[in-house]
Amino acid sequence: MTGIVNTAQSEAWNGYEGEHWAGHAGRYDAVNSGINEPLLAAARVGAGDRVLDIGCGNGQLTRLAARRAAAATGVDLSGPMLSRARESAEAEGVPNVSFAQGDAQVFAFEPGAFEVALSRFGVMFFADPVAAFSNIARALTDTGRLAVAVPAMSASGIGAVFAAAAPHLPGFEVGHGFSAFADPAATAELLTAAGFSGVTNELVDTDSVWGADVADATEFVMGWGPTRYHRQRNDFATDDELRSAIGAALVPFAGPGGVRMRAASHLITATVALR
Ligand SMILES: C[S@@+](CC[C@H](N)C(=O)[O-])C[C@H]1O[C@@H](n2cnc3c(N)ncnc32)[C@H](O)[C@@H]1O
Repeated sequence: MTGIVNTAQSEAWNGYEGEHWAGHAGRYDAVNSGINEPLLAAARVGAGDRVLDIGCGNGQLTRLAARRAAAATGVDLSGPMLSRARESAEAEGVPNVSFAQGDAQVFAFEPGAFEVALSRFGVMFFADPVAAFSNIARALTDTGRLAVAVPAMSASGIGAVFAAAAPHLPGFEVGHGFSAFADPAATAELLTAAGFSGVTNELVDTDSVWGADVADATEFVMGWGPTRYHRQRNDFATDDELRSAIGAALVPFAGPGGVRMRAASHLITATVALR
């Protein structure tokens, strides 16, 4: 493993948060997989491409990319999630994937080793986003392409659920990095400073499945990393009210197909700038 500069993130993703994601891989994929096809299409992943998946986690997108490319490599901070990713690639018989543990902000990628860099919700956590995206740009060829998705929490159904939870969780916030990509001008400025050009930023709506029914989805949201973190900080004192508030907020989304919500994402593309 190369160096780690995002140490708090590394602790979280190698601790409770990463264990929860690795232990509920199918659930997280049901929540997040709607963006897979828009992301792969935006990146124009093709048969000859070598693809880098940043913050690949349990590796569903890495496997999908590998199936239509020459090879795909996932890089992630999380040991538990990478173990899960390797097991799934083996179980599904996807031979042209590899995974590496490390911090994408400083990882010693071979320069120009990839035609495409992708990420499904893995680029919101960098302490220094310009340094991180500069490092990713260096890993791409001179005509390399970038396509990343970032949750647009406030435009998504789950945003209403977290808003209902917040009064029962002092200090609750979903994640400071999520809003960084909401402003197209700020996104373009960031990626231009990191060596990209032709930045696009589109809001994409997808379907998202949070559970079989309200009780199931409520327990999942209660255990989700940021919720769990603030429950623990609060000595679990408001768990009863919190559970009721989350359950009530999920009711409008429940139906015969489970608890389904609209999920909005910022889908951002760019190409490597002339160098
Ligand atoms: C929200 S999860 C998304 C995981 C996966 N892409 C998915 O869609 O299921 C964020 C992922 O980014 C990873 N991550 C966060 N900061 C990172 C960094 N600096 N370098 C590499 N991975 C990072 C985490 O370990 C985690 O797996």
